[in-house]
Amino acid sequence: MMDEVYKADENRYDGTMRYRRSGRSGILLSEVALGLWHNFGGVNPLENSKKMLHYAFDKGVTYFDLANNYGPPYGSAEETFGKVMKSSFMPYRSELFIATKAGHDMWPGPYGEWGSRKNLMNSLHASLQRMNLDYVDVFYSHRYDPDTPLEETLQTLVDIVKQGKALYAGISKYPTEAARFAYNYLRQRDVPCLVYQGRYNLLDRAVEQEGILDQAQEEGAGFVAFSPLAQGLLSDRYLSGKVAEGSRMSRAHFLRPEVLTDGLLKGLNALAEVARDRGQTLAEMALAWLLKDDKVTSVIVGTSSLEQLQMNLNALKNTSFSEEELARIDRLLAATPSPFTGRG
Ligand SMILES: NC(=O)c1ccc[n+]([C@@H]2O[C@H](COP(=O)([O-])OP(=O)(O)OC[C@H]3O[C@@H](n4cnc5c(N)ncnc54)[C@H](OP(=O)(O)O)[C@@H]3O)[C@@H](O)[C@H]2O)c1
Repeated sequence: MMDEVYKADENRYDGTMRYRRSGRSGILLSEVALGLWHNFGGVNPLENSKKMLHYAFDKGVTYFDLANNYGPPYGSAEETFGKVMKSSFMPYRSELFIATKAGHDMWPGPYGEWGSRKNLMNSLHASLQRMNLDYVDVFYSHRYDPDTPLEETLQTLVDIVKQGKALYAGISKYPTEAARFAYNYLRQRDVPCLVYQGRYNLLDRAVEQEGILDQAQEEGAGFVAFSPLAQGLLSDRYLSGKVAEGSRMSRAHFLRPEVLTDGLLKGLNALAEVARDRGQTLAEMALAWLLKDDKVTSVIVGTSSLEQLQMNLNALKNTSFSEEELARIDRLLAATPSPFTGRG
């Protein structure tokens, strides 16, 4: 049987989704973006991935966030996206803002990760092929490489943009000092860094505390938050203390059951109560809490089902908080242990 031809919802820009300017640039990102780190790999049913991608675009999500090694297996999330480009999204290419990255573990040997020109260039070529694209909208250096001269990594970003393989350059998880160097280097070469991607959620406020958020704003870059739900902790998924089969925590790799301490569970349940008082689920409130701040350009959610995606988009209905609500949340967070260490 032939697949039905996808036709995007004509009402996708009806005003429910809003778009925020990324720093001082022409980039306008949907407040909610869809990330393909998990749930879109070769191990996941293509039909479910397709359904979520279609639904997202139908609801005005235009920013899709990928990286070379998303899967599993590595590369397969880009292949999934490439299949959907071919089957559905090609007529809408100019509306889509597609990101990919390189810098984490990808292929064996000395050039399979980090920030060398060799890694970044080879990786992007392969990403474009997998995704059936001529260019990506933003190419990120996925992480700071302390051993490769930063000039080499950044010059590669400049060249990638000048060659038209990416329209814009971005950095992810760079510490403050390296980020300052990057903003300056890139600006001086007329390829400004227009987006910084970092982990930010109720349980991990390091980007606030370390000045990364303020710095991005001062430097004219947008800030995009990844893992806004702390990989699912900030939802009703684990509130009972049980680890559901099929959940990210049940795979015990990126999210381990050990993090579910009594202290964390108590804090999460108390936060869920604040959310209930606001007429939201915990996931909706967690996303709204990030979007209350105009320094945050977009939040990248990762979803394993259509229902999760629908719920997360509901967050947009109420993204304002009273002083009292914010103070209540801060008091709860002060008493809640964070499961995070490092930059993710
Ligand atoms: N730059 C970087 O280094 C970096 C690092 C990490 C992520 N990212 C980007 O950020 C994206 C999002 O990261 P993330 O996947 O960690 O985000 P997240 O939104 O914090 O967590 C996603 C997980 O939370 C659960 N979830 C989502 N919505 C839910 C809901 N409404 N109710 C219950 N559970 C819900 C799902 O878990 P289950 O699978 O258990 O259902 C889902 O897989 C990635 O896809 C990637 O694009 C970038």
